[in-house]
Amino acid sequence: MQEARTGFSSKIGFIAAAAGSAVGLGNIWKFPFEVGESGGAAFVIIYLIFCFTLCFPLMVAEIAIGRKTQRNPVGAFTVLGHGKWSFIGKMGLFSCILILSFYNVVAGWCFGYLVEILLGNFSIGEQFPLFVKDIIKVGGYSVIFMATTAYIVSKGISKGVEKAAKLLMPILFFIIILLAAYAMTLPGAAEAVEFYLLPDFSKITGKVVYNALGHAFFSLSLGMGAMITYGSYVSKEDNIISSAVAITLLDVGIAFLAGLMLFPIVISQGLDTHGGAGLVFMSLPRVFGDMGTVLGTVVGTLFFLLLSFAALTSTVSILEIPVSYLVDERAMKRPKAVWLVAGGIFLLGIPSLLSNGYSSFFTQFVTYFGASGPTDFMTLISDVASNSFLPLGGFLIALFVAFIWRKEKLFKEISNGEKGHPNRFISKFLGFSITYLCPWILGAVFILNVLDKFFGVTIY
Ligand code: PFF
Repeated sequence: MQEARTGFSSKIGFIAAAAGSAVGLGNIWKFPFEVGESGGAAFVIIYLIFCFTLCFPLMVAEIAIGRKTQRNPVGAFTVLGHGKWSFIGKMGLFSCILILSFYNVVAGWCFGYLVEILLGNFSIGEQFPLFVKDIIKVGGYSVIFMATTAYIVSKGISKGVEKAAKLLMPILFFIIILLAAYAMTLPGAAEAVEFYLLPDFSKITGKVVYNALGHAFFSLSLGMGAMITYGSYVSKEDNIISSAVAITLLDVGIAFLAGLMLFPIVISQGLDTHGGAGLVFMSLPRVFGDMGTVLGTVVGTLFFLLLSFAALTSTVSILEIPVSYLVDERAMKRPKAVWLVAGGIFLLGIPSLLSNGYSSFFTQFVTYFGASGPTDFMTLISDVASNSFLPLGGFLIALFVAFIWRKEKLFKEISNGEKGHPNRFISKFLGFSITYLCPWILGAVFILNVLDKFFGVTIY
């Protein structure tokens, strides 16, 4: 039994919501620290190649699957390929539970920083290690964050998600451009740009490639059905390809600007580019402090407010996946599904909350093969989810489209919203990527990554 679906009210609304899902902590918090840990510009180039050659075609495929079936990911694969394919959707549900469990903790940090900067505490950057250990505070902020996410999802698509995203995305874009321009005037700018944009190809290792691929998926919200779910609310008239182009460019553009903003700041403050998860949180508050109390409070508060909103439009899209599954397939009422899932995922996030210094057990949870030191629980979950499960999800979705659903049907769905057939060059490229590039590259990288990280077998 299905509840009636009310979808996005316009194409712009869909693009804003889907770009809102893509643009989030991944762009502003995770991208710079991944670049820092994985060798600078070499990582950036591989990430960009993956975004355009593999992720963009998969985004088109995910949106088309959603729009064709008007279902959540589990229902969508069942409708198109019979029940046995629903495991791809179920795997997506599993990934989204893992991702939201730790994502909500980092979103809680952003929200906490918003409050601290508003109160004029510019030394919060230096206090980062103590701040993330304070589980009462951070736990409280995370509860507020998850409850806000749940409230928006309970309002449904057009009244909740679409409205918030349309207002907030442009403001975020604007403030990052301003901060990037400011960063370019700092003394470390030239060195930072060199690190960020001049590739040293000798730095490319297997690990750099796996991280770049995982991050491309994470950043574009692919491989776990978020775009299938949002696609299920898209009008038949909309042009899927131009929407996917806009979403990909916005996402990549914001990540790129975030790096341009952050590295000059990090270098001019004498911080290490390998700053890890604390990079944004440790470096930015001091910049706001240097601007003077009034301007610093205004710009700093605005920045963390927008970062919190960027995180919110992403958490909303993640929570929507299991909720739409329970509403479509289990005939559960939306509000009940929302609060049940949000509560459960919050509880599953507690080990991540504890793993930033509060509990030594979770802080030093595992040691990867060949690693110089132990990895915390939150990083492990992030690695497993984004570097393993998302590319695996993408691999299965590509196989499904190429060999079960068939690319002719994909093109037919895409053409619905266009005058005539999609452009010949684009359809050739999409078909080639989904049939050959995605299965081979994603399959190979997935296997190599798992062998490397969890079995200590390094082939490259
Ligand atoms: N793309 C989001 C970010 O970059 O922050 C994170 C994310 C959202 C991942 C939705 C996966 C997803 F389905």
